Amino acid sequence: MGKKKIAVLTGGGDAPGLNAVIYSLVRACHSMMDCELIGYKFGYRGLYNNDFISLDHDRTTGILHKGGSILYNSNKDNLFDYTVEENGVSVKKDVSDEAIANMKKEGVDVLCVLGGDGTLTSARDFARKGINVVGIPKTIDNDLSSTDATYGFDTAVNIVTENLDRLHTTAESHHRVIVVEVMGRSAGWICLHAGIAGSADVILIPEIPYSISGIVNKIEERDSFGRPFTIIAVTEGAVEKGGSAVIGKVVEDSPDSVRFGGIAAQIAHKLESLVRHEVRYCVLGHIQRGGDTSPADRILSARYGVKAAELIKDGIFGNMVCLRNNKMGYVKFEEVLGDGKMGETSVGGAKIVNPNGELVNVAKALGITFAD
Ligand code: F6P
Repeated sequence: MGKKKIAVLTGGGDAPGLNAVIYSLVRACHSMMDCELIGYKFGYRGLYNNDFISLDHDRTTGILHKGGSILYNSNKDNLFDYTVEENGVSVKKDVSDEAIANMKKEGVDVLCVLGGDGTLTSARDFARKGINVVGIPKTIDNDLSSTDATYGFDTAVNIVTENLDRLHTTAESHHRVIVVEVMGRSAGWICLHAGIAGSADVILIPEIPYSISGIVNKIEERDSFGRPFTIIAVTEGAVEKGGSAVIGKVVEDSPDSVRFGGIAAQIAHKLESLVRHEVRYCVLGHIQRGGDTSPADRILSARYGVKAAELIKDGIFGNMVCLRNNKMGYVKFEEVLGDGKMGETSVGGAKIVNPNGELVNVAKALGITFAD
């Protein structure tokens, strides 16, 4: 077997753990086979522009703990529906063949793709065009099906928990209600985990529609127990009963164009006239994705990187590496994503919180309300 050329890219939004995967993939590949690695910059855009760097030990040393990606990220560049300029006009085109031609020109044997559902959808489509692709799942939201855990989630939960701890002391000092908005899109995992770990009094997640009266009841109950302050953790995509999610902005060109945002402000505003406390809100935003990667995410990323190297060595392609029951494995892209395009209902199915699941019941048993 000759020398293998392996290309890597990080698609979609960044997540803590991407660098740890790159770090471990480079080392594991070199220990298992004769190979050379390159990294395309800004996800699929780099593949289209043939813009890459060499990935060797020197280039990847000292990155294991760092958030972000040394290859940079873009969540806008779907090469199967890509915006190009033609005669001064922006048009959408499938430029995947140009990307494949770039890989052929560089002698790339394997494309290793680190990303969430949008990035993996393109990975599946490149695999269908005959490219040897291995996927490595990423998302802080933890909402990817077919794997028990994605790197970035544990780090985000740690950051939110730390901030809930911090907000407790100021809320208690002022006898205030503080509403904390956390990421997660339409999945309440970050909010549920950090809400329990950070002793939130109210947890609001998209999977369990809430009522304002349910929140007010909790605040009054705490008042009656001599606890005149309340912390409310809310997922950005949570929904009031009979209402709809609060959209912050629409990012054109992004496979999943809706960005949630603004729900904490909305809830705070509604509560202000209904409770005897001052109400404040806090949006944790991209702080949840920044900084260093948690030790648990570094280990998970290392396991993913090594498993991906094994698949490359064994010539097993068209799969995403996964973690199931604490065992590393792999699963066909089709099983993760289904056969459809992003946004279609046939797509794999996101992993969301079970409203009757154990963790929700644990939270309830601790006295936390979902205001349902
Ligand atoms: O999917 C990860 C995530 O961080 C979501 O939790 C959040 O809604 C979204 O990305 C934010 O996207 P952007 O970085 O484009 O603002």
